Order: sequence, then C-alpha cells, then structure tokens
Amino acid sequence: MQCVSKITALREHVTEWRNAGQSIVLVPTMGNLHDGHLALVLKAQEVADRTIVSIFVNPTQFVQGEDYESYPRTLDEDIDKLSGLRTDLVFHPEVEEIYPGGLQGQTCVTVPELDNIFCGAFRPGHFSGVATVVTKLFNMVEPDIAIFGEKDYQQLLVIRRLATDLCFPIKIIGVPTIREEDGLALSSRNGYLSANERNKATLLYKTLVSISDAVDAGKHDFIELEMRATENLKNAGFKPEYVKICNADNLGKPAAGDLVVLTAAWLGKTRLIDNVIIRR
Ligand code: PAJ
Repeated sequence: MQCVSKITALREHVTEWRNAGQSIVLVPTMGNLHDGHLALVLKAQEVADRTIVSIFVNPTQFVQGEDYESYPRTLDEDIDKLSGLRTDLVFHPEVEEIYPGGLQGQTCVTVPELDNIFCGAFRPGHFSGVATVVTKLFNMVEPDIAIFGEKDYQQLLVIRRLATDLCFPIKIIGVPTIREEDGLALSSRNGYLSANERNKATLLYKTLVSISDAVDAGKHDFIELEMRATENLKNAGFKPEYVKICNADNLGKPAAGDLVVLTAAWLGKTRLIDNVIIRR
C-alpha cells in the first residue's frame, strides 16, 4: 500500500494504473476510520481494480464554533487498518495542498437546492465545503467510481447532484449505514459521548425505525409523526434540530416513491445524525 501526501505523487500512481488499463475507485474520508468507513473500502474492492482512500479533515466544511481543531486525527491507526484490507493508495494531504490559495476567497462549489435545507440550514456553508473538497478530489483522482455512505444521506445526494451538474463521468455508489448492535450508527463523533449519553443514543435510531414502521402500517400524517418523534427525543434529553420525512430521491415533499426519514439531534455536546430509508 502506498501512502502519499502530494497531488503530483497521487497522479503518478493514477497515470500508471490508467496506462495499464485498470479502473479506479475513490473513497473520500476524514480519517479516524471505523467499520462504517471500512465497509466502503470493502465495497470499493468489489467494483474496481485499484482502491484509493483519501484522509483529509477538510476545514471548509466545519462551521465556526464546530470541532475542526479537536476532530480526531489518527493517521497511523488508519493506515494500519487500511493496510489490513486491499487498499492500493492512501492520499493524506496537508491543508495547503488542497487549498493552495488559502481558505478565504477561494473558488467553491455550491449545490443550491440541497445545501441550505435540513443539516445545511443548521450548518450554513457546510455542504459547500463538502462539495468543494469532493470536486477537488474528483479532479485530482479522476476515478471511475466514488463511494459514499448512506449514513450522511443529504451529503450523498449533494454529491450525486454535483457529479451530474458538473458532468463528472464518475459513478457514485451509496453504501448502507453500519450500526452498533443497539442500532447507533457508527460515527467518529460517537467517541465524544459520555457512558450515559452512549446508552441513550440508541433512541435516535429507534425513533426513526418507529416512524418507518408507522408509515409501513399505513399512517400518512407525516407532520404528526415528525412532531411526536421530536417530542419523544426531547423527553429523553436530546435537543433535536429536525426530524423530517421526505422524498428519498431529492429530499422534496414526500411523494409516491421511496421516502427517507432524516434527523439531527444534540446529545450533550455531541451532534448526531441518522436516517432510515422507507422503500415503497
Ligand atoms: P467522514 O465522516 O470521514 O465519512 C467518510 C465516508 O464514510 C462518508 O461517505 C460517510 O457517509 C461514510 N460513513 C461514515 N459513517 C458511516 C457508517 N456508519 N456506515 C456507512 N458509511 C459511513 O463524510 C465525510 O467524511 C466528509 O464529508 C467527506 C465526504 C470525506 C468530505 O470531506
């Protein structure tokens, strides 16, 4: 497994593999890898000849006051985990490599219809930061395929949309969320939870599942379901930002096809997000 931090070195490997007629898949991450990330890497190995994993804690997607400085950085452990899988290359650039002109006044990518709702409304600028860094990574690697988790459902749709709108010839694959035994979605931020909060955290997923069960059982008063779920979370000590049932394809109003229930809620100092897809 190769580990490089410079774009030129990354491109040399990519060119060599391209010249050998090999296909390339990219798995972008911010590191602190857990089994959720590793599920994406395992998927990657099924779909292309060469797997590149990027590890970059992207400053522009952290809103002021968020945990950019304290976000867990565990590069050595991450490299160990990836070398146990069949990863071909780890790209772990410094901030200056990705943002050579600095962080202010840079060219950026926005996905207007999706980036200011739900998580975007509570984290203004977050999805533009994600869209910008993913666009840069797409331009650096020019992969055939890129893999993202359904755990960050709104992010997945933002990336699908930017790939379509900016004409990237890249297939975007979404991988289902990997969960703890009690249902809590794996996340690098779960490490911030106290033992007591960790016990409670399972309720987030259970709340989403109960909405999904109610819809499956024929309940269609979505606003009532959203309100009741929000109340339940508040009563259990969460501070919910939103619980929303929407169209799974575009996050618009619920229509006839698949739905997704999305939520973000604070538990103490930790912001958790989760979602459940309702296939119909
Ligand atoms: P990060 O939070 O490190 O996540 C990297 C990828 O792993 C994302 O596609 C995310 O959806 C996926 N992932 C995280 N937890 C998961 C879980 N429990 N099950 C399945 N997949 C999971 O998301 C980002 O980084 C960044 O925004 C990034 C796309 C790298 C851009 O900076």
